[in-house]
Amino acid sequence: MTQPMIVQLRQICGNANVLTHDDPATDLSPWEQDWRKRVRGRALAVVRPGNTAQVAAVVKACAATSTPIVPQGGNTGLVVGGVPDSSGQQIVLSMTRMNAVRAIDPANLTITVEAGCVLQNLQAAADKAGFLFPLSLGAEGSCTIGGNLGTNAGGTQVVRYGNTRELCLGLEVVTAQGEIWHGLSGLRKDNTGYDLRNLMIGSEGTLGIITAATLKLYPQPAAQLTAWAAVPSMQAAVQLLGLAHQRLGPGLTGFEVMGQFALSLVDKHYPQLRVPLSQESPWCVLLENSDSESETHARAQFEALLEAALEAGCVTDAVVAENLSQAQGLWHIRESITLAQAQEGLNIKHDISIPVSRIPAFVAETDALLAREVPGVRMVDFGHLGDGNLHYNVQAPEGVDGQTFLHENEERVNTLVFDQVAKFDGSISAEHGVGELKVGKLPLYKDPTALAMMRAVKKALDPQNLLNPGRVLG
Ligand code: FAD
Ligand code: MLT
Ligand code: ZN
Repeated sequence: MTQPMIVQLRQICGNANVLTHDDPATDLSPWEQDWRKRVRGRALAVVRPGNTAQVAAVVKACAATSTPIVPQGGNTGLVVGGVPDSSGQQIVLSMTRMNAVRAIDPANLTITVEAGCVLQNLQAAADKAGFLFPLSLGAEGSCTIGGNLGTNAGGTQVVRYGNTRELCLGLEVVTAQGEIWHGLSGLRKDNTGYDLRNLMIGSEGTLGIITAATLKLYPQPAAQLTAWAAVPSMQAAVQLLGLAHQRLGPGLTGFEVMGQFALSLVDKHYPQLRVPLSQESPWCVLLENSDSESETHARAQFEALLEAALEAGCVTDAVVAENLSQAQGLWHIRESITLAQAQEGLNIKHDISIPVSRIPAFVAETDALLAREVPGVRMVDFGHLGDGNLHYNVQAPEGVDGQTFLHENEERVNTLVFDQVAKFDGSISAEHGVGELKVGKLPLYKDPTALAMMRAVKKALDPQNLLNPGRVLG
């Protein structure tokens, strides 16, 4: 017999929008398995509300029966934050049916969208209206703005436009009690008390369910150029970043670094992408220059920058994309590292931030420590150097099975890397969040007073611990 709770959820959202294991023809793995295939949970049900009132009613039903809720968008998260645990008692609240663009206000430079809107569709809606929505990341074809806000996603344009948090002006949220907070203001100034919007952003579904957001729009640049530069060291990459800030000012919209081994994985698994320049350079940098004047102006500025960098010795070779399709090709290589790394096998992923000035010393010292600790280990290093954010990833030695490698090394590799991050005044999560994967580590590296305040906030807003339990705070 169908559980009364499931009957109630079906009354709220419709039969077709409450999926359970009772129907053998329904495969719930897309909602139960995380993107990196680290965890496979088991949901009581996958519930797909179609509007905010339905979300509120679902949460009220869950609160009345103490049923835990795991909010989920595109399920592209990398820290096991959006899939259910193995108990079979949690519902996945999939937001993807709530995907409408509700409004665009050109004079206020804002767009209001529902949480399940796929990022690429949001970018396209902004573009169609003649504006830019600058958030951009490799998963943009499937991640949702609700997930981006939930994780305070970063991506490749942060150096100019900031994280998702900086792009958000207002939120509509369903609380753990099933109440609706109507906070969709498009205000750039509002000092009427605590900043609840910024509390919700980055809370990874543990404080409330984001159902809609009002976001900032920007003018589209007149020209956008991309360059690929080979650099002899991480120190040289940092020097190039300084030059780029100086010479391009706010025109610098992207600055990504990629290690040789990371690029060799793209070459190995996606040879059709044709990685440019010498494979011998230890690092390459992808730079983007967005210009409000013209392509000619952008190109002249870019070429002058690269000439100065060649002269200073911080670049050994460089190429500026001739057209949009070449530029997209270069970005495609950069965005394929994550997939190439996944093809290579299970790995230990780190998403760390360090003050930019200290990154070269961090990498040199930590590489040496790791090589001593796990001989043969292969470093898949890349990331958003412009933001001081490195994906300092550790791949099994050649020929070693990923699962075995993780089993034997994950704990001590994490400890080694995170201790180094702490030593260099960094953060153990720059953009992916804490999720479940780093929940045990947070108390070791977060300021204890900050952690106590976080626990107090969680208790006040979600006293039953129904919203994404076990994530962020254990
Ligand atoms: P999900 O994975 O579904 O959920 C992520 C978290 O948000 C979970 O804790 C979930 O409970 C919560 N959540 C989801 N929706 C809501 C909601 N409506 N209300 C409240 N909480 C919610 N991340 C970056 O920051 N920068 C990158 O450059 C980047 N590149 C990536 C490239 C690839 C190829 C992949 C696979 C991932 C990448 N990511 C990156 C990670 C991921 O895409 C982001 O974390 C993204 O923001 C997750 O969005 P999602 O809709 O898939 O969320
Ligand atoms: C990226 O910058 O490509 C993402 O954050 C994904 C990753 O870390 O693999
Ligand atoms: Zn990233």
